[in-house]
Amino acid sequence: MRTRTVANMGKYTGQILEEIYTPEVIESRVNQLAKQISADYAGKVPILIGVLNGSVFFLADLAKQLDIECEMDFIKVSSYHMGTQSSGTVRLIKDISCIVTDRDVIIVEDIIDSGLTARFLKHRILENQPSSVAFATLLLKPDCLKLEFTAEYVGFEVVDRFLVGYGLDLDQKFRNLPSIWAFPEDMQV
Ligand code: IMP
Ligand code: MG
Repeated sequence: MRTRTVANMGKYTGQILEEIYTPEVIESRVNQLAKQISADYAGKVPILIGVLNGSVFFLADLAKQLDIECEMDFIKVSSYHMGTQSSGTVRLIKDISCIVTDRDVIIVEDIIDSGLTARFLKHRILENQPSSVAFATLLLKPDCLKLEFTAEYVGFEVVDRFLVGYGLDLDQKFRNLPSIWAFPEDMQV
């Protein structure tokens, strides 16, 4: 198992991260999801709505592997204020700019933790009467769900540890790491 030590990040400095998904493993799982979505949406032109900022790498890799036509747009919400703790409230920061009425929409997220953000996003899209809404998330923490929420496409189910890399951040850092890394279980925040 590869590890890396956090540098230059105040109270997080010195923490040891463990690599839990390598770029190769992520790529092969994203390709599988793309195959499944291509089959499920054959003959349709879905709009992929990426949730900024965390989903950018996943959305880009997924979209490039689709065999069907698609459109892309973005939405930005905030649920995490600082560190690793969710504030519990979701705020819309940047809305979609496309028209989703009578369209097939796939919301693309990096991770579902409590599920609050996912529920908020789904409701936001449903307000505009799309033909369908599905949810694709690279990661899901099933033990952390605070409400009933089912995502149609899930890359990996993960344990309750704070993850970074491949789009996921801690205070905006680490998004650019090609692998997904886990902070220690007993991480101090
Ligand atoms: P939820 O509303 O609690 O499901 O949180 C969803 C959002 O929290 C995600 O879109 C992420 O931005 C962030 N988040 C949740 N867990 C993690 C994590 O382990 N690492 C980085 N961000 C996370
Ligand atoms: Mg996010």
